[in-house]
Amino acid sequence: MTTLDPWGAVKIDNYSKLFDEFGISKFEDLLGKIKNPHRYMRRRVIFGHRSYDSVLNAMLSGKPFAAMSGFMPTGKAHLGHKMVMEEIIWHQQQGGDAFLAIADMEAHAVRGKTWKECRELGINEYILSAIALGLLPGAHIYFQSGFNPVKDLSFEIGIKANFSELSAIYGFSGDTNISHMVSTLTQSADILHPQLKEFGGPKPVVIPVGADQDPHIRLTRGLAYKTNMFFVEERRAGNGLISVRGKAAPKEALKEIAKRTGGKLYEEHVDISGRTLDDVESVVREVELEYGGYAFMPPASTYHKFMTGLQGGKMSSSIPESYIGLTDKPEDGAKKVMRAITGGRVTLYEQKKLGGEPDKCSVYELLLYHLVEDDNELLEVYKDCVGGTRVCGNCKKFTAELMRRFLKDHQEKREAAREMLGEFGLSIT
Ligand code: TRP
Ligand code: SF4
Repeated sequence: MTTLDPWGAVKIDNYSKLFDEFGISKFEDLLGKIKNPHRYMRRRVIFGHRSYDSVLNAMLSGKPFAAMSGFMPTGKAHLGHKMVMEEIIWHQQQGGDAFLAIADMEAHAVRGKTWKECRELGINEYILSAIALGLLPGAHIYFQSGFNPVKDLSFEIGIKANFSELSAIYGFSGDTNISHMVSTLTQSADILHPQLKEFGGPKPVVIPVGADQDPHIRLTRGLAYKTNMFFVEERRAGNGLISVRGKAAPKEALKEIAKRTGGKLYEEHVDISGRTLDDVESVVREVELEYGGYAFMPPASTYHKFMTGLQGGKMSSSIPESYIGLTDKPEDGAKKVMRAITGGRVTLYEQKKLGGEPDKCSVYELLLYHLVEDDNELLEVYKDCVGGTRVCGNCKKFTAELMRRFLKDHQEKREAAREMLGEFGLSIT
């Protein structure tokens, strides 16, 4: 059995295990239903999900849904962060509510960043870039430390979390500082809070993440179940028997559920037949809210593949040559592309004869993930590369120029974003 390490890298060869061993579903199966799939979806960069159907159904039927993510303000925002930002923005464009947390409590407790550094990095690196990439006013942007709804909720869900469970996921030991532990619950509260009454109540919320983040998602889904008053379970699939259990729920509430679903009331549960699961769940949520419960839906997630570092290996904030920062000087970004590892052969002769290997090429990855929007154009690059008619020198120059232009344009938009902070309820200081 493989364990997923949230802070380690997941290799491409291991992705298939995620489906079999961890119960992540294939994103491909939903692709046909999505109206304007994002390039990460079309290109299989997003390869997996948990209950994304709930988000998609809401999107298709004009019901409320949301996308949320958080960024730890520890250093420079780079192309990996851009992926998550774009995924949030895409959902906002499809009519969803957008939430973006700056995880300053986590950065302070786990990485020792001062509050001042957190504030500056949060605004300058993450928020300005997210707005420059297209996040629109109406999005909820907040710093954890200044946001009571999340802090209060983290206390509440903390009742259902214990040390053994958290240490199994995060590797806590006896000398882990308590605020570090608290910050993991704050992250779960980040994920669940869009479903609080004051933000419109229970709804499908998607958290776009890298595959290594699945343990956090599973923890949070578990906390959502445990914090709810009721547990709905399908005893027989289809229109068979559905049972609603509520051990700690008020008797009256359980009675109400029996009444509204035509179910049979027992001591601690109701049995219902001839109703769909969706139907029952929505009645249960309604009643739970009336009786002061949270009625959280389990948060959904999508999983994307990682980009390789420009020098091969991992893309990591601690290795400047491995990534391109969104605030890197355009010329420096272009230079990093020129120095990147390619899937080219050792000699030009071999390249012409055998063709290049775009699947192993970090330059091709830049085109695929970020720089070429048109699928046909990208296909041409791929074909020319494997056909041996494209040579790496020129290809790098082409990519470097696209990168230079992207960074220049992005940074101009960041300057414009500075003027828009007020519209998000934020200020520079
Ligand atoms: N822990 C995440 C990180 O290390 C940041 C984070 C905080 C987050 N809250 C979140 C991510 C909610 C996704 C959803 O970068
Ligand atoms: Fe990579 Fe381009 Fe070289 Fe192909 S030609 S291996 S895509 S750099």
